[in-house]
Amino acid sequence: MRKKLELWFESWSVYYERLRVAHVLMFALLLILLGCLACSSKANEPAPKLGDPVVSTTPVAPVALPTEVTKETKNPLTDLAAASAKGKPLFEQNCVFCHGATGASEGAFEPKPPTLNAGDVPQDPDGEIFLTIKNGKGKSMPAQKRLTDEQIWQVTAYVRTLAKK
Ligand code: HEC
Repeated sequence: MRKKLELWFESWSVYYERLRVAHVLMFALLLILLGCLACSSKANEPAPKLGDPVVSTTPVAPVALPTEVTKETKNPLTDLAAASAKGKPLFEQNCVFCHGATGASEGAFEPKPPTLNAGDVPQDPDGEIFLTIKNGKGKSMPAQKRLTDEQIWQVTAYVRTLAKK
């Protein structure tokens, strides 16, 4: 009888020990869960409403582009060197085929387009170049519909750098 009781007690203490371990584990899990909830609560912040002040994460304030452009409109991009650097690959993708890499119309396109590095264009105001790119010119210069206004101003800044010195 006594042996039986001892045996029973032993198995109970093993069981009890496991129960304790299980509790500790559950408690740890709960702590982790709470931690996750606390750190993700930021993501649950309400989306900004219309009229809330806009906090920009970019260091440079975006330049407001004019909605109406005339020949006299100056390039609104204030950092022309940066704009031209962005305009270069756009020029290579969209213009070189007809105007040539230097703007000297050295491409195969016929009729030969006017040169961009000499002649009228270096003297043309920014707005005129912008409008030619945006709307196209004559029968053979197509409107550059893939380019956004900002990209067109960037290409315009780049075209300015082509002028022969
Ligand atoms: C399919 C060929 C073609 C492509 C592509 C093209 N052009 Fe032209 N471009 C022309 C032709 C042809 C003219 C002359 C149009 C006319 O006066 O009838 C012209 C005219 C111009 C003019 C005016 C020149 C002047 O004397 O007033 C500018 C500026 C110009 N292009 C810039 C660009 C830029 C920048 C791009 C790229 C975004 C571009 N073009 C893409 C063919 C092209």
